[in-house]
Amino acid sequence: MSVKPAFSNRVLIWGEKQGRLGLPWQPADNSDFDIYKVWISEIMLQQTLLSTVLKRFDPFINLFPDVFSLASSKQESVVLAWSGLGFYRRAINLHEASKILCAQKNFKFPKKAADWVKLPGIGYSTAAAISAFTSSERIPILDINVVRVLSRHSLIVNPMSDVRSRAKLFRYAQIIMPHDPNLIPRYSQFIMDIGALICRKEKPLCSKCPVSSDCDAFQQQKVAKVKFRKSKVWKKIKFIWAIEFSGDMIILEYQRTGTLWGGLWTPKRYQEEIDLPKGASFLCSKEFPISNSILLLDIWLVKEISSFDSVKTKSFNLKSLDSIPVPNLLKEVLKEFKLLH
Ligand code: ADE
Repeated sequence: MSVKPAFSNRVLIWGEKQGRLGLPWQPADNSDFDIYKVWISEIMLQQTLLSTVLKRFDPFINLFPDVFSLASSKQESVVLAWSGLGFYRRAINLHEASKILCAQKNFKFPKKAADWVKLPGIGYSTAAAISAFTSSERIPILDINVVRVLSRHSLIVNPMSDVRSRAKLFRYAQIIMPHDPNLIPRYSQFIMDIGALICRKEKPLCSKCPVSSDCDAFQQQKVAKVKFRKSKVWKKIKFIWAIEFSGDMIILEYQRTGTLWGGLWTPKRYQEEIDLPKGASFLCSKEFPISNSILLLDIWLVKEISSFDSVKTKSFNLKSLDSIPVPNLLKEVLKEFKLLH
């Protein structure tokens, strides 16, 4: 593996013109990052596009301007403020983490990735990003965008497949990053941006890439040879259940065969939170594997029946659930939250 000393310079020069600057959690001038804002933004960015995060970030910060206001809020209000971002367990973890931080005798944010990663909801990549931005820690961020750039650049053809390839990539990332700590925050942002905007998974824009002149994959015409599949690919499927009930009655919807839970009666399904009936409140998230996917199910409660019986939708007495085909999961959730005895 050859070392290309000018790599980080080219990343930095590219970024000053074309990188993502002016994000609401970045300092306007050369002052320090607001650690709380960086942390919130990195959690939001974990599974959500930047364009969506940009719409939701300021309203969230207006409601919870600092870690103390977050920690002293009810979980329910944090989850509600997370509307539109999905994957609600992130909001729950964020709230938990804020309480852990505020319970310290002398409050301080972690200074190193190794400490950030101990908090709920923070994996290696998020910890590295927060620490690189807020403490200039010289630590590689290996989110999927950066993995693409560096594995193509150094022609590690299957970077996610085994421990040795991942270790090789990590070493490469360490060698290639700037030594001057002052450059770490910007470099970290720009290498992620090159991955997202230039070194795209499909149709990468190699002619516009600042590091293509010594990119091994590009120079050897092997860009398509670099694969990013993990040994097992778990596709994530997200959807929402709204449990509509009133007194002893619950509304269920019949699922056509051939669909998930086909032939069973389930709570009404929604794709997006925005489609939920008025007054819906978040109950819990469940995550479990089905065939080769992971199902991420957010469950909401609607304490008033607003649907009418139809071919697909019917009201049932909660006590009769044992006699109709419903997923076990539904009964477990109803029991867990004491809606069914
Ligand atoms: N994805 C994760 N962190 C990011 C950041 N700081 N900017 C853009 N995309 C990101």
